[in-house]
Amino acid sequence: MLGVPGQVNLDYAATAPCARAAADAVAELLPWYGSVHRGAGALSRRSTLAYERARQDVGDFLGVRAGDHVVFTRNTTDALNLLARALPPGARVVTFAAEHHANLLPWPAGTVRLPVPGSAGDAVRAVDAALRELRRGSGGGAPILVTVTGASNVTGECWPVAELARVAHRHGARIALDAAQLAPHAELDITALAVDYVAVSGHKLYAPFGIGVLAGRADWLDAAPPYLAGGGATLGVGAATHDVRWADGPGRHEAGTPNLLGAVALAAVCAALSEADRDALYAHEQALLTRLRSGLAALPDVVELRTFDADAPRVGIVSFVVAGRDSATVAADLAQHWQIGLRDGLFCAHPLARRLLAEAATRSGRRDLPPTALRASIGLGSTAAQVDRLLTALSAIR
Ligand SMILES: Cc1ncc(COP(=O)(O)O)c(C=O)c1O
Repeated sequence: MLGVPGQVNLDYAATAPCARAAADAVAELLPWYGSVHRGAGALSRRSTLAYERARQDVGDFLGVRAGDHVVFTRNTTDALNLLARALPPGARVVTFAAEHHANLLPWPAGTVRLPVPGSAGDAVRAVDAALRELRRGSGGGAPILVTVTGASNVTGECWPVAELARVAHRHGARIALDAAQLAPHAELDITALAVDYVAVSGHKLYAPFGIGVLAGRADWLDAAPPYLAGGGATLGVGAATHDVRWADGPGRHEAGTPNLLGAVALAAVCAALSEADRDALYAHEQALLTRLRSGLAALPDVVELRTFDADAPRVGIVSFVVAGRDSATVAADLAQHWQIGLRDGLFCAHPLARRLLAEAATRSGRRDLPPTALRASIGLGSTAAQVDRLLTALSAIR
């Protein structure tokens, strides 16, 4: 990982550091940087090849099925907005109040927003009941999309994606996975999980070059109006204003000159992760996470936020509050005096964060919890020394 010596980055969930593999791939391609899909010269041909190869490699990494599309976007927010725009007419959407705003706000009026569940089992039962109800109400046939996170950006807790996919499909619905936080931490395979769509962000996956992906079923994407209208998305344009034949395939939604360096950087990280021992990486992260959570639990004024049980599976993200202390002030103090970067606020998941703050107050019996929280998040490159530094700093700040 690239980084700055002395700075302790515990904010991977917001934006992870740049992987050496991503930086190297970009440096190697830069002399050849040229137009994609638009030129006959050697630079352009190499750039086009690199872009399409990146699409292939990212798709392989995500485990796409034959016939799925891999559309490059700017980030997860962009990917989910694209999917929202590609919903068939009359489609209904089911999601949870526990989602990041990126998976809460793009969906159309009439979307069913299920309450934050208390357990993974509750989540599955809630989706089952909601789909049964929707099927009854819609006379059976309307397309339905269930859309959920793989891992919460507030608590790190993993959602029961495979079970939700089974339930969705049993009711003839599709399921989209917001994998912004899951993909950097655990293996993700669209085919094995049997989800229909996956959205990820490069900058959370160690490839901070302004790239994201929506991967999944081709039919809705090919039938939808282009997400952006313009060059690259067309097969032909006539003289009349609306005389245009739009392309099928991922290009339909990628009008304009694409983000070649972002795609190549992301593909390089995907290749590096595919070659790595991901079980070992996961085990290392889990050990650090346990160290962090048990260290926080040992601090008398610190209260963790959580949706599910304390021992529910989770990735390397922990949100917490220091009772009696304003979270923004604590974060500023950590930055200024301890060179520790973490996040404070409601983490672009306001409904969830507010609910969890209220639940933390009830659970802890403390009446002096602040109205916003702190979040520490780790990943590749994180160390026990960094975790210990945060624990030491918090202990001193208290
Ligand atoms: C779970 C989740 N979904 C979506 C997003 C949005 O990602 P981006 O800002 O890269 O679009 C985030 C970002 O924090 C996230 O944590």
